[in-house]
Amino acid sequence: MTISLAFSQVRQSAMLRGVDANLIHDLFERKQAESPLLLLSRSEIRRNYRTLSQALPRATIHYAVKANNHPTFLDELHSEGCRFEVCSAQEIDATVRAGADINSTIHSHPIKSEREFDQAVAAGIRVFVVDNIDEINKLARYQDISLKIMIRYRINTNTKAVVDLQYKFGCTTDQVSVLAEAIKQTGHEVYGLCFHIGSQCIFSENYVRAIKTASKLITKLEGSGFNIRLLDIGGGFPVEYIDPIMPIDKFCEPIAKALDNHIRPEIEIICEPGRFIAASPVTLVCSVIGKAVRDGKVWYYLDDGLYSTFSGIVYDQCQYPVITDRTGQGKLSVLAGPTCDSFDVMYDGLMIPEHSIGDKVVFPLTGAYCTVSGSEFNSLKRPDYMIID
Ligand SMILES: Cc1ncc(COP(=O)(O)O)c(C=O)c1O
Repeated sequence: MTISLAFSQVRQSAMLRGVDANLIHDLFERKQAESPLLLLSRSEIRRNYRTLSQALPRATIHYAVKANNHPTFLDELHSEGCRFEVCSAQEIDATVRAGADINSTIHSHPIKSEREFDQAVAAGIRVFVVDNIDEINKLARYQDISLKIMIRYRINTNTKAVVDLQYKFGCTTDQVSVLAEAIKQTGHEVYGLCFHIGSQCIFSENYVRAIKTASKLITKLEGSGFNIRLLDIGGGFPVEYIDPIMPIDKFCEPIAKALDNHIRPEIEIICEPGRFIAASPVTLVCSVIGKAVRDGKVWYYLDDGLYSTFSGIVYDQCQYPVITDRTGQGKLSVLAGPTCDSFDVMYDGLMIPEHSIGDKVVFPLTGAYCTVSGSEFNSLKRPDYMIID
């Protein structure tokens, strides 16, 4: 698929639905406009939350704060009634600042330091995730508080998510009963089950398979006297970056059906989307700050790079569409970042028309796993957010 697109072709397209195309037009025109800049649309945050809620009517959404912890995300989502999923003390603090009720927040990191665990319990979190006996042993620290524990399991899939989250976490299904008994011994409650297929999971059959597995595990656990109250189907809901993917309502249809067919109505269902909510509300605007011709390619040096917003290319294995407003014949080009490191190259081999220093280049869908994993390498300033609606 084409990564680089002319602004004139995409100004009406869904790719730019997270930003006002007239604003982008103005930024292309105004060479002096400050950059790098992250345009953030509050209405798009709300739209994504509502769209996913409608597509999965049985699931309560807990936004995965790790995807983008900007206060505007948390404020908008909180006012929509969204709940939160956290994995650290700092994320807990951010949700509290947004006004979230700590009782509704879940902590779903399967491996927590004792310090992180203590901080989360002290803050009032009661729902946690474990996937192994050593983590369960940490529960003995909390004698006077009753915690609700979910067991995270993994399943075999024929097709993987782009970011495989079953590699690092999740017990095998035959370990679930043993872990449940161990939790019972600690005096805490075996509250539910959870899985996380992976991020940018484009195959809904993986969720269906995991839900069918949950059904069997629940029957077995209930046969042993456990009262399972919750199934957490994780995050992973995909975003259309460059390759076309199914609309989210179609993607979720088989998942919603599997929940109805296999999980009895008394069991609460939750999901933990990050990317689906966070990606499209943010659009990165960069400027060309330098230019050189090397080895037959035109190199453009932008004012944001791999060490900052484009860190998602490294850590999230993601590629963002490139939008330019220059016309003319495409030339073999490279887009590199502003640091002194040769590693700081985002796109090598793009065919784009010739650009000049000062030209703007725009990258939509840069809201998830971009800002949060970037750094200030070379002591370069991170881009500011501009709230656009
Ligand atoms: C435990 C957990 N929940 C939710 C998410 C969010 O996943 P996504 O952004 O793919 O929806 C992640 C991502 O790493 C995760 O580890």
